[in-house]
Amino acid sequence: MIFEALSESLERGELWLRLGAMCRWHLRRDGQLTIKEVMVEPSHRRRGAATEIVRALSSVAGAKKLLARCPGDLPANAFWEAVGFVLMAKERTKSGRVVNVWLRDLSISTATAATNEPCKSPEMRDGSEAVEATTPSTPPHVL
Ligand SMILES: CC(C)(COP(=O)(O)OP(=O)(O)OC[C@H]1O[C@@H](n2cnc3c(N)ncnc32)[C@H](O)[C@@H]1OP(=O)(O)O)[C@@H](O)C(=O)NCCC(=O)NCCS
Repeated sequence: MIFEALSESLERGELWLRLGAMCRWHLRRDGQLTIKEVMVEPSHRRRGAATEIVRALSSVAGAKKLLARCPGDLPANAFWEAVGFVLMAKERTKSGRVVNVWLRDLSISTATAATNEPCKSPEMRDGSEAVEATTPSTPPHVL
């Protein structure tokens, strides 16, 4: 249930709540920080709120890489690319929706990330399958 998921994240300190913005994430022991949800109220968008969240998550102790999944048809994909994530793979859910897997390796500077070989594709979620691996796209702008 969403209440329990939110409550657990809150207790772990993995929930960002600010006026007009929220983000829930999970940091694994291996250093992968998965951004579960991020959303900014429409009237607060395009003012850097989500960029600030990504910057804050990049500084979480123990985080080595940030991962986000975004349905391929959402405008939010342009956000992930703009803040330095690289499209690593596409997955397909059971319902047939394509989901983009975005990754930002915190050990690679954003200026060089786009020219390096992509990492191994992250493991698939239950019920999803890989559609294709991708090559990194245009260089991201530095946060
Ligand atoms: C995606 C979302 C979180 C971005 O939040 P935000 O605070 O507006 O993002 P920022 O202001 O930090 O944007 C930084 C850059 O990302 C890019 N960007 C952000 N939203 C974009 C959009 N809708 N279309 C194209 N580019 C976008 C732009 O390059 C932007 O810089 P600019 O405004 O100077 O052009 C917000 O639009 C949102 O809540 N959307 C609905 C929920 C959602 O889709 N969440 C993500 C699911 S994976």
